[in-house]
This record gives sequence, C-alpha cells and structure tokens, in this order.
Amino acid sequence: MKANHCRPSVDRLKKTSLFQRRLLAWYDGNRRDLPWRHDHDPYRVWLSEIMLQQTRVAAVLEHYRTFLRRFPTVKRLASARESSVLAAWSGLGYYRRARMLHAAARKIVKDLAGMFPTNAEGLRALPGIGRYTAAAIASIAFDEPVAVVDGNVERVLQRLLGRNLAGQETWQAAQGLLGRQRPGDFNQAMMELGATVCLPRSPMCRACPVSGLCSTRGALQQPGKSPPQRKREIHYALHRENGSVFLVKRPKDASLMPGMWELPELPLVNTAGEPYLKLRHSITVTDYLVRVSQATAPDGSNGRWVPKGRIATLPLTGLARKILRAAQVI
Ligand code: ADE
Repeated sequence: MKANHCRPSVDRLKKTSLFQRRLLAWYDGNRRDLPWRHDHDPYRVWLSEIMLQQTRVAAVLEHYRTFLRRFPTVKRLASARESSVLAAWSGLGYYRRARMLHAAARKIVKDLAGMFPTNAEGLRALPGIGRYTAAAIASIAFDEPVAVVDGNVERVLQRLLGRNLAGQETWQAAQGLLGRQRPGDFNQAMMELGATVCLPRSPMCRACPVSGLCSTRGALQQPGKSPPQRKREIHYALHRENGSVFLVKRPKDASLMPGMWELPELPLVNTAGEPYLKLRHSITVTDYLVRVSQATAPDGSNGRWVPKGRIATLPLTGLARKILRAAQVI
C-alpha cells in the first residue's frame, strides 16, 4: 500500500527529469543564435530582457547592438542624460521601460557600487524589474534556480498539463519543472519552445522534443480571440526651412511617450487633397492612417527648429522617425 502510494511521485520525478533532459538537449541543438546569449553578463541580460518585453526579437536585435555601443556598461548608462537614453530607445516603443532602465542603472551605481544584486529578490527591488525579469536575470546571469513565466511559457505549460492555469499556479508549475542544473538555459529553452515550436495557433508537435510527455499535443487552444484593432486617422505637418525641420515636444505629463519629439499635428479638417505622404502605423490596439502635409505648423505649436543633422540625437517617437525616414529627412 505504502509503496503504491509513493509511486506517483517517483513517476513524476522521473518524468520531470526526462522533460528537463529532452528540453535542454533540444535547446542545445536548436536555439537561435541571439547576441544576448553570447555571455552571461547581468547588464547585457537585463538589457535584452527589458527590450524583449512587448517587442519582437527581430526589432530588438538592431537596437540591442546600437544601445550597447552607446552605453556599454551600467556605469555609462547611469551617467547619461535621460534624453540620450530615450533617443537610443527610439523606435522600440513603451518608453517607460527606458526611463526605468535608466533609473535602475543610477541606483545600481549610486547605492550598490555598480554591482548587480545576484538573486531574484534583490533584483526585484530595482525600478522596472518585476517577477519575470528578476527571475530571468537571476537564472541566466547567476544560475539561481528560479523559474520564469511569460506568455510562451504559460502556453507550453497549459498544453503540457492539459488544463488552463491561473496566476500563482502557473508560476508553481514552472518552478516544479525547473531543475537545479542550468536553470538559465532551461528558462530560455521553455520560452524558445513556445516562440518557435509550441506556437499559439498551429503548434508543430512533430518537431517538439517533449511531445511524448505532453497531455494535449496542441489540442488546448488559447481561449478567445485577440481584440479587434481600433482605427484612427491623424494628420501631421512637415515644415522644412533652411535645412531644419519644425518639431514639437510632447508634454511631460502626457500618458503616452512624455517628453518625446514629433511632428506638429494638424487638425483633420485640413486633409483635403492628396497629402505629401500617407502611411500606416500601429500602436498597441490602434491602427493609424497617417497623413503628412508639407505645411506650416499651426499657430501656438510649442516647438522648435531642429537642424537635420541633430534630429537623430533627439528622442523621437517611433512614428516621427518613420515619417522623417519616409520623407528622407533622416
Ligand atoms: N523572451 C524573452 N527573453 C527570452 C530569452 N532569453 N530567450 C527566449 N525568449 C525570450
């Protein structure tokens, strides 16, 4: 009776260890060669994890390299002006991440003598570092066995276990699978599996290293559809004179992209006739139809003339950068 009683947990341990071995072997042979996987320096791991929040890998690649060239160490980041940090972040969106990164760098240099906390608990005390990021840095840079949960990991776990998991339960399930060996690789392998094999709509179960241990083999689909995108129109003035462009700074208390630079907006009533440029731009749940006219900024626009050569040093909004590139200003 007693032996029987013990068997499930022994089985579970064996299954967990098999899962870990198969997943890590697959990761070793199939992981994408991403620049932040080349070393375990906490500054680089931290930067990549913050950039990867809400942003696709392809978009992060270029920014990661240029940001590191500009700010190669936490000290250099801490001593920079916020506007330079925002300028280097330009195009990645969600600028609060850059402000928090900067604030955390200052705290690390000022209060911690430039050294990163070496465990998840210490990391969480820094601005902009939540449970996920703390666990990612602690496991990848410092080998602490703490599990991460992001959207990909959550989907992998739900399919593996064959049920929807809520909040704390998901973190516990992730922690239960994590081994003491190579926790950083294990966490990245879980995310990698979700990003490249255990896809939301059509999981590639035949390529999955752990399909033999999976309860659903992809049958558990994600509930619900993504919400429909809202449509909006917006009209901007591109005003050029003597090699300069008239740009405006968003208010410091704006809820979106405070303090960033953009083109002056024109009222939509001025949209008669073909605009100089027409393009589409998406921000979170809104698709914008953007019109740009070669026009004078409306009276009272609180802006300034910026020489073309200086524009790239300003923290521009992603949309302003897109427009200025399309107009071959930058
Ligand atoms: N998503 C966010 N960080 C990641 C990482 N280090 N590996 C794979 N996917 C990720």
